[in-house]
Amino acid sequence: SIVYLNGEYMPMEQARISPMDRGFLFGDGIYEVIPSYDGKLVGFGPHIERMDQGMELIGIRFGYAESDWREVCETLIEKNGAGNLGIYLHVSRGTDSRRFHAYPENVEPTVFAFAFEIPSAPVADREKVKPYKVSSTQDLRWQRCNIKSTALLGNVMHFQQGHAAGHNEIILYNANNEMTEGSACNAYIVKDGVVITPPLDHQILPGITRLMLLDILRKDGSIPVEERVVTMDEVRNADEVWLTSSSKEIVPVTEIDGQPVGSGQAGLVWEKAQTLYTAQKY
Ligand code: PDD
Repeated sequence: SIVYLNGEYMPMEQARISPMDRGFLFGDGIYEVIPSYDGKLVGFGPHIERMDQGMELIGIRFGYAESDWREVCETLIEKNGAGNLGIYLHVSRGTDSRRFHAYPENVEPTVFAFAFEIPSAPVADREKVKPYKVSSTQDLRWQRCNIKSTALLGNVMHFQQGHAAGHNEIILYNANNEMTEGSACNAYIVKDGVVITPPLDHQILPGITRLMLLDILRKDGSIPVEERVVTMDEVRNADEVWLTSSSKEIVPVTEIDGQPVGSGQAGLVWEKAQTLYTAQKY
């Protein structure tokens, strides 16, 4: 595949960065994943805005305008066949010849981007969708989960825990038994027709799929939405549980730790929400 590195496009095999890059040594960087179907990007503006906010939060001063990022994304789509693609964007603090924890002055950020295949967007049909079976465990990541940091070891270890148990994802909860999110997605319950998801704070990533979905649901008005604390007891007694992320949109969860969620099948509210999302996401 063709990738982007520091202003140039090249075959992936030719892309080289220094081992002294702080992204490599410290996970000192910010990333994004933007979905694109048949060449059309979903949520481009909010994704770039979140990346800018992330860089500001960790003190990377960096000057790509939205139009620069758009050109990178569109060029990668064009050079990589415009199917169903996730566009990965990455800015690390840059390369420093010393391994010194403090942010170095006058360092050039490393900018990397590539495209990877993602599944086709889910069909809003309870019979056709492939629901997830998940594990659950206490969230052992850090207190800055709102930053989309490239330092993903906590997420990777949690995902692996679910994967090793034969599950598609893992739902995380804090020390108060409150659901936070999945290891790579946001989480929701549906109870008595109401969609409920944890509020934005340091415990979760402000997902762009979450942002767009809540916006679409609120504008439509037929499914009530609440952002509030959700306990794991509520999760286990929910009618439906969903996960969202850019590479999978809305995924129904039908089993948690071997126990069925609600009827044990993808739900009617999920079908309605995914129908609305499919129709309005661009
Ligand atoms: N994951 N929470 C976490 C911890 C995530 O890693 C992600 C995204 C989300 C959902 O955010 P969004 O809707 O903006 O994709 C929530 C990406 C896709 C990844 O790391 O591959």
